[in-house]
Amino acid sequence: MRLILLGPPGAGKGTQAKRLEERYGIAQISTGDMLRAEVKSGSPIGLEAKAIMERGDLVPDAIITAMLALRVQKPDCVNGFILDGFPRTVPQAEALDTMLRQQRMDLDHVIELKVDDAALVERIAGRFTCAKCGEGYHDSFKKPAKAGVCDACGSTDFVRRADDKAETVAARLEAYHRQTAPLLPFYGAQGKLKQVDGMAEMDEVTRQLQAILGPPPTKA
Ligand code: AP5
Repeated sequence: MRLILLGPPGAGKGTQAKRLEERYGIAQISTGDMLRAEVKSGSPIGLEAKAIMERGDLVPDAIITAMLALRVQKPDCVNGFILDGFPRTVPQAEALDTMLRQQRMDLDHVIELKVDDAALVERIAGRFTCAKCGEGYHDSFKKPAKAGVCDACGSTDFVRRADDKAETVAARLEAYHRQTAPLLPFYGAQGKLKQVDGMAEMDEVTRQLQAILGPPPTKA
């Protein structure tokens, strides 16, 4: 199964992609996570991307599509993948169509998480993750069971993203509306676009997604 989760910053794409990855046995591909790993490693891509991401702008299409083309060939994508944060522009979507056609692959679903802009700022400003295992949390919506301790790995180190400051979030939202929202009619015209209510509680959003995607594959 191959699917795209579309939606503005903070819509819950990463949260839901992790849940679907586990249930359907397919790989979550987050171009944001890939770029943050490049920044952390100090690679040439990371050096170019760092300032762009901190401004809330989009990294050039050529860099992203080259990264993605390599990523989908990794063994964990053999059963499919969830694209989280890609494509983000019409040229990226066109490059993806070409890539999939060349590899004789189909895109099964494009799902938009619909969320009001006003809710996004609160979601992003309250977000933090475990520095060790990457488990995601939120000051109001998903606190660790024991304050200051990661539920998943027990670490006490947490981090907040450099681009989660209020002024950067405004720039990221502007980039979404200007450059990414045109993908909605793009996929609508292909008859692939479906929507879920991203304003609902996390478990309800998961239920809506699973209703679209159907039951998980049976294990052999
Ligand atoms: P990226 O990392 O992709 O960030 P984003 O799209 O801005 O999305 P986020 O990760 O901020 O949000 P999300 O939708 O995953 O929400 P989450 O699940 O965390 O991109 C970062 C940057 O990299 C871009 O700005 C750009 O510069 C660059 N980049 C990346 N891809 C690119 C591309 N293809 N082309 C060019 N540049 C690219 O949820 C947010 C919070 O809300 C969490 O705390 C969560 O717990 C909470 N939450 C989630 N769901 C709910 C719910 N239903 N109710 C209440 N709270 C919820």
